[in-house]
Amino acid sequence: YGTIGVNQAGNLEIGGLDAIELAEEYGTPLYVYDVALIRERARGFKREFDEQGVKAQVAYASKAFSTIAMIQLAAEEGLSLDVVSGGELYTAKAAGFPMEKIHFHGNNKSREELEMAVSYGIGCIVVDNFHELEMLKEICGSKRRTVGILLRVTPGIEAHTHDYILTGQEDSKFGFDLQNGQAEQALSSSLECPFLNVLGVHCHIGSQIFETTGFLLAARKIVGKLAEWKDKLAYKTKVLNLGGGFGIRYTDEDKPLPPAHYVNEIISEVKILTAMYALDMPEIWIEPGRSLVGDAGITLYKTGSRKDVPGVRKYLAVDGGMTDNIRPALYQAKYEAVLASRPLAEPQETVSIAGKCCESGDMLIWDLPLPESGHDEVLAVFCTGAYGYSMANNYNRLPRPAVVFVENGQATLVVKRETYEDLLQYDLPYVTTNNREA
Ligand code: LLP
Repeated sequence: YGTIGVNQAGNLEIGGLDAIELAEEYGTPLYVYDVALIRERARGFKREFDEQGVKAQVAYASKAFSTIAMIQLAAEEGLSLDVVSGGELYTAKAAGFPMEKIHFHGNNKSREELEMAVSYGIGCIVVDNFHELEMLKEICGSKRRTVGILLRVTPGIEAHTHDYILTGQEDSKFGFDLQNGQAEQALSSSLECPFLNVLGVHCHIGSQIFETTGFLLAARKIVGKLAEWKDKLAYKTKVLNLGGGFGIRYTDEDKPLPPAHYVNEIISEVKILTAMYALDMPEIWIEPGRSLVGDAGITLYKTGSRKDVPGVRKYLAVDGGMTDNIRPALYQAKYEAVLASRPLAEPQETVSIAGKCCESGDMLIWDLPLPESGHDEVLAVFCTGAYGYSMANNYNRLPRPAVVFVENGQATLVVKRETYEDLLQYDLPYVTTNNREA
């Protein structure tokens, strides 16, 4: 998929470059991104809206992978941007991302973060709760600046990836409850404030979703309320944001739909609903994270030690682990991997890929079929582009890996590998009174 394949030497190739040479040049572990595939995914979402003539914003949920280069790429592809913290917003600013296309999320934005967002002039703040609403009113009032907002609601639909649970009142830390009047109260309170431009409503039903049902159910619930609010509060919505969560394929267990399929069904449903309630067709906004960058990322590791537990399991360790990919340890997430020197070779054994952290739970892949392999081989783990680097950490004081973008046979280092010195950057000595010079 994308530009990921096998070259004439029989090695894994990404963006026209040999994975083994990339590992040699930049070291391991290494995150490699197939830029062409990110572009393809972005265009897949956007094209469908364009073809159907529906006004839309496709906002990249930058929590999946936020770096200056990635945000510049998102800008180049005409995406909007979803940020969830001052840090992500600051990164977007440093990348020169157009402020009016940024949406600011979060269930506990601080006053400083809100002030930062308002003074940057960002496109909209997705207001999550009453505390935030009051702070935002104060900030905009004192700065005499208007800001666009969406109200985040919990429509009472929870996507457990395959089945959807409908509850009267969803138990979630995010957003205003749609059913019990909270959302309506937030709306009327927002409409009273001259500095808030209420663009519309937002919801996010979950992540790694393989069906359209949940999105359609959420749209149904929200549009129903919008019809009520039109009569009751004379409120006309400009924007309906249905969040992200479009699933991708990590292993054969996952059966994702093409981006266009989700978009298409969402558009049809919203058209039907708005016609039914005699509402204007709103702009539709979505916020894919994983589905834009997930399968474009591959992590290259070097293999090291092996441990054979006869009759039980073979462990093959790599030079990274839960520090660069915490998903297996945190969510029992599954991945596929190949040896970069013979990606298509017949498997001869089953090995479990262990990380190098001092923790039994630091396993990247259980029971992976691989050809006979030794140490110092390059192992490529697929689909690590989302929530890999962004959730990376320095457990055991492992430096974070470098990130390389590849496209058209060219590699560009976009995040430098951390050094041991970097690890000490914020450490200060502790001088006890006993040792302190008088
Ligand atoms: N919009 C909102 C409001 C969100 O909370 C999220 C993800 C997204 C969009 C993007 O969702 P995506 O399209 O990437 O599924 N760390 C977890 C995923 C957490 C997702 C949190 N919210 C993981 O590694 O699977």
